[in-house]
Amino acid sequence: MTEPLLMVRSLSKHFVSGNETVPVIDGLSFTLGQGQSMALTGRSGSGKSTLLNLLCGLELPDAGTITLHNQVFEAGDAAVRRKATAWPALRRQHIGVVFQEANLMPALSLLDNVRLRAQLAGRDPANSEDWLARLDIGELARRYPDQVSGGQRQRAALAMVFAMEPALILADEPTGSLDRHTADEVTRVLFDLQARHGCGLILATHDAELAAGCQQHLDLGHLTGV
Ligand SMILES: Nc1ncnc2c1ncn2[C@@H]1O[C@H](COP(=O)(O)OP(=O)(O)O)[C@@H](O)[C@H]1O
Ligand SMILES: [Mg+2]
Repeated sequence: MTEPLLMVRSLSKHFVSGNETVPVIDGLSFTLGQGQSMALTGRSGSGKSTLLNLLCGLELPDAGTITLHNQVFEAGDAAVRRKATAWPALRRQHIGVVFQEANLMPALSLLDNVRLRAQLAGRDPANSEDWLARLDIGELARRYPDQVSGGQRQRAALAMVFAMEPALILADEPTGSLDRHTADEVTRVLFDLQARHGCGLILATHDAELAAGCQQHLDLGHLTGV
């Protein structure tokens, strides 16, 4: 039997705000199989972005274990050392992150953004133009990020993620800044390519339709307490 792509066990994370301790993730456990998709829902402030940050090592948990791509990350002092070593390599090579606003390098063309992302992941950049074409922005390859629309930038961000052939895509409200039509288009492409390439997907979203397109559903809404 193949190992799951991601196992989260008893994960907890709090923030300190003034004198107050704010628990955000509290004893969370779930498993994501290879190639599976999961919607992450919950009202604003329920911890969606925090969980995604924990799953790519940008935040460290107070307690619990994350097993991702056969690497085990445990909370504790050792986690700090792991953060400095294993997490960046995993992010560079195997985890594709998509945010609400595409964060492309402004001084590089769309094509060079994709090429750079592929190279950083150790992949062949020769396919970069194909990725832009598959996302229907092939004719915009030589333009710079400020010369295309928000939806086109988000497609370029997806091309960057797919060009790195990730094991897992973490998408934090990736269509939140797009109009309905563009959002639907970008979503269709995301699900289509995710299914075709068999990578895992965790998608934080407020959009019930988008969430319904995922195989699993994790609702953090009840954790806010108020
Ligand atoms: N760096 C931080 N320092 C203090 N509090 C934070 C920090 N990041 C997030 N929080 C708090 O954690 C909670 C969850 O935030 P977040 O994960 O951004 O929620 P969501 O993405 O679901 O809107 C919120 O109450 C937020 O204010
Ligand atoms: Mg958020």
